[in-house]
Amino acid sequence: MLSLGIEGTAHTVGVGIVNEDAKVLANVYEMLRPEHGGIHPREAANHHAERVVPLIRKAADVAGVDLADIDVVAFSQGPGLGPCLRTVATAARALALSLEVPIVGVNHCVAHLEIGRAVNGCEDPVLLYVSGGNTQVIGFARGRYRVFGETLDIGIGNMLDKFAREAGHGFPGGPVLERAARESSTFLTLPYSVKGMDVAFSGLLTAALNRLKKGDRFEDLAFSLQETAFAMLCEVTERAMAHLENDEVLLGGGVARNRRLQEMAGRMAADRGARMFVPPGDLCIDNGAMIAWTGLLMHRAGVRMSVEDTVVDQRFRTDGVDVVWR
Ligand code: ATP
Ligand code: FE2
Repeated sequence: MLSLGIEGTAHTVGVGIVNEDAKVLANVYEMLRPEHGGIHPREAANHHAERVVPLIRKAADVAGVDLADIDVVAFSQGPGLGPCLRTVATAARALALSLEVPIVGVNHCVAHLEIGRAVNGCEDPVLLYVSGGNTQVIGFARGRYRVFGETLDIGIGNMLDKFAREAGHGFPGGPVLERAARESSTFLTLPYSVKGMDVAFSGLLTAALNRLKKGDRFEDLAFSLQETAFAMLCEVTERAMAHLENDEVLLGGGVARNRRLQEMAGRMAADRGARMFVPPGDLCIDNGAMIAWTGLLMHRAGVRMSVEDTVVDQRFRTDGVDVVWR
C-alpha cells in the first residue's frame, strides 16, 4: 500500500510517499523564505500553489513509482494558516479525484508525533512537540493525544526566529541561534517562566531583546536563550513523564533538530532511567512523509472521508483527533 501526503500548513509545502512499513520512499519540500519580516499567509499560499504540482511529480520520480500506484492521498487539514491549508486541500482533492483513490485529512501536530513513533520504534512515549507555532507536551491516554502542557503565548520556534530576526538574521532563525550559541559559554540570567505544566516565552524574548539593545553579545544571548528556554521545556516534560510513569520521550517539530535541546532532553531522560528519541532532521520539520504516514494509519484503521469532510480547520486541536489506529 502506498500513501502520498501533502503538507502545507505554514512556510513549507512538501510531498511524501510512504509504504505500509513506514518506509519513506520520497520526502521532497520547498520552504518559502521571506526576504524580510514574517510569513504572509497569502504569499505562502501562492508559493504552495506554484510548487505543489512539480513537487508531486518529483516525489513520484524519487520514489520510483507511478502516481497510478498510489492507494491513498493524505493532506494537512490543520492547524495552520487558512490560505495555505485551503491551497493544499484543493491540490489533494484534485489529485485524489483524478486518481480515483480515497482522501484523508490529517492533523499536522499528530503527524509530527506519528512519524517519530514509526521511525524511532518507541511504543508509548511522552512527546515534546516543539515547532514554529507549537510547543506542547503530549501523552497518549484514553484514545487521544492529550496535551499536558503547552505554551501560554508564542511557540518556541517563533520566539527563536523573532530574536534572530531582530538581530538582523534571516529565516529560519533557530539554526542561526544554535550556531551562535556554540560560540559562547557566558550565561546571562533571563526570565524563566514555567506555570504548572505550561511555559511562556514572550517575557524571555522581550528581556533578551532589551539586553541585545543594551549591547550584550548576540552569541551570549543566543546561548542563554537556548539554555533557559530548553530548561523550561525539559522541566515540564520530566514532570509529565513522572506523572505518567513513562520511560520514553520523543522529540518532534522543527526545533527538535537542535543538538543542545536533544542533549538536554537526553540527559534528563537518562537521569531518570528513561530513553530519548528524535527522528532524522527531514522528518522533524514540516514534511509530506509524516502526513502520508499518518494518512496511511488512519486509512488502514478504517477512516473514510467524503469531500465534504475535507474542509480545513485552522485551529485543529491535537486532542481533537480520535486516534482509532492505536
Ligand atoms: P508548526 O508545526 O507549529 O506548524 P512550523 O510549521 O513553523 O510550525 P516546523 O517546520 O516544524 O514548524 O519548524 C520550524 C521551526 O523550527 C522554525 O521556527 C525554525 O527556526 C526551527 N528550527 C529548525 N532548525 C532548528 C534548530 N537547529 N534549532 C532551533 N530551532 C530550529
Ligand atoms: Fe510543523
